[in-house]
Amino acid sequence: MKFPNLGICFFFFFILFDIAAAQSAFLKIQLPNVPLSEKRFGFFIFGNSFVDAGNNNYLNGTIRTRSNFPPYGESFFPIPTGRYCDGRIIPDFLAEYAGMPFLPPFLDPNNSNYMNGVNFGSGGAPILPESTNETALSLQTQIEFFKIVEKSIRKDMGNETLSQTFLSNSVFLFNIGGGDILHPFESSFDIFNTIESQEQYANMVINNMTIALKEIYNLGGRKFGVLGVLPSGYLPSSRLAKNEEFIQKSNSLSKVYNKLLLIALQKLVKQLKGFKYSYVDAYNFFMQRIQNPTKYGFKVVDTACCGSDEFRGSYNCGRNTGTIPFSHCKNISDYLFYDSYHPTEKAYEQFAKLIWSGGVDIVKPYSFKQLFQSDSTFGV
Ligand SMILES: *[C@@H]1O[C@H](CO)[C@@H](O)[C@H](O)[C@H]1NC(C)=O
Ligand SMILES: *[C@@H]1O[C@H](CO)[C@@H](O)[C@H](O)[C@H]1NC(C)=O
Ligand SMILES: *[C@@H]1O[C@H](CO)[C@@H](O)[C@H](O)[C@H]1NC(C)=O
Ligand SMILES: *[C@@H]1O[C@H](CO)[C@@H](O)[C@H](O)[C@H]1NC(C)=O
Ligand SMILES: *[C@@H]1O[C@H](CO)[C@@H](O)[C@H](O)[C@H]1NC(C)=O
Ligand SMILES: *[C@@H]1O[C@H](CO)[C@@H](O)[C@H](O)[C@H]1NC(C)=O
Repeated sequence: MKFPNLGICFFFFFILFDIAAAQSAFLKIQLPNVPLSEKRFGFFIFGNSFVDAGNNNYLNGTIRTRSNFPPYGESFFPIPTGRYCDGRIIPDFLAEYAGMPFLPPFLDPNNSNYMNGVNFGSGGAPILPESTNETALSLQTQIEFFKIVEKSIRKDMGNETLSQTFLSNSVFLFNIGGGDILHPFESSFDIFNTIESQEQYANMVINNMTIALKEIYNLGGRKFGVLGVLPSGYLPSSRLAKNEEFIQKSNSLSKVYNKLLLIALQKLVKQLKGFKYSYVDAYNFFMQRIQNPTKYGFKVVDTACCGSDEFRGSYNCGRNTGTIPFSHCKNISDYLFYDSYHPTEKAYEQFAKLIWSGGVDIVKPYSFKQLFQSDSTFGV
């Protein structure tokens, strides 16, 4: 299965320095500190398993495409929820920091209240439809679902000004692309021999991502939080492949993807009036911890806590369907990765704290806190 995920980065010292200087100048002028409690806004989440709060439970997938069984959720939830983690995931922590409840999965049949937002994330979700099949909500499907929600919000609010203010003050989180990075390697490790071929593929994926962002903008969204992808070659599942070429090329493609994603966001700011974004450097976040585990309180960063085979890189946590039974680590807090594709709650919590109010090495040009608090008007 092409499980997804994350993000990246690259910046050289001098580039970082430049951006930091430019950012602080920018922020001084632009952002009034409107207390969160005085605003009405929602938090809408799009993406793959890093942000899925249970949508896949309602799809006709297989046990492989879900995680609503033990030991998933063990560190926090009384019963497994479908989150691909031992506990809470990025949107849970961000919602908490923003003073909101956990956002329910859109497909939850018991939920029809969208006034805090809703979660469309779906494990295995790709940007390009061909990266997966009916077992996950593709990005395009997630956008189609948002259109239903947007209509319902406008209807419930009944007042055009109110609903536009609500939408323009809402935050739209995107965490997707990891599956699109790994998927091409399933056919061959030999592709992407040149940076040019990597850029060409990344641009195709990003073009479709851009279409999705523009659609949300056209429906009234102004504040976008976009996560890059992590160093895909260092997932326990990738390490299991034991192919140095694969590890290097998938890391390289991840970096190229993130670099072009940031450029695409910078272009959107110029094209679309009132468009604001926070770009999150997941590549850098994970590299910092992979290169210096003890500094961040981790002991094991190459091997997952739950799974089988070398690096527990085989994706069968909680399932004994394969030939080798899965095993589970003693102390989850020592681990960066919970299963072969997904970080632990501890890693997500560190990440979410930095996404909320960390430095430009992780989030720029605004932190999520600044993005949530900024005052957006519905520009035309
Ligand atoms: C869809 O994905 C599942 C799980 O990975 C797989 O078993 C199935 O063969 C796939 N179906 C198609 C039509 O690709
Ligand atoms: C799942 O399958 C059932 C029975 O075939 C069908 O009624 C339902 O619409 C399907 N759900 C999805 C999300 O495809
Ligand atoms: C929906 O609510 C009903 C009644 O409270 C409950 O029995 C059911 O388990 C809920 N379903 C989900 C998916 O939460
Ligand atoms: C990209 O987006 C366009 C427009 O929505 C869509 O028609 C096309 O199928 C998408 N391409 C891929 C490869 O997903
Ligand atoms: C919409 O709501 C605002 C704020 O309550 C109010 O000032 C405005 O008159 C309303 N507009 C309409 C068309 O009802
Ligand atoms: C588990 O690991 C964490 C972090 O390494 C440590 O603080 C804690 O004491 C450990 N717990 C046990 C029961 O070993």
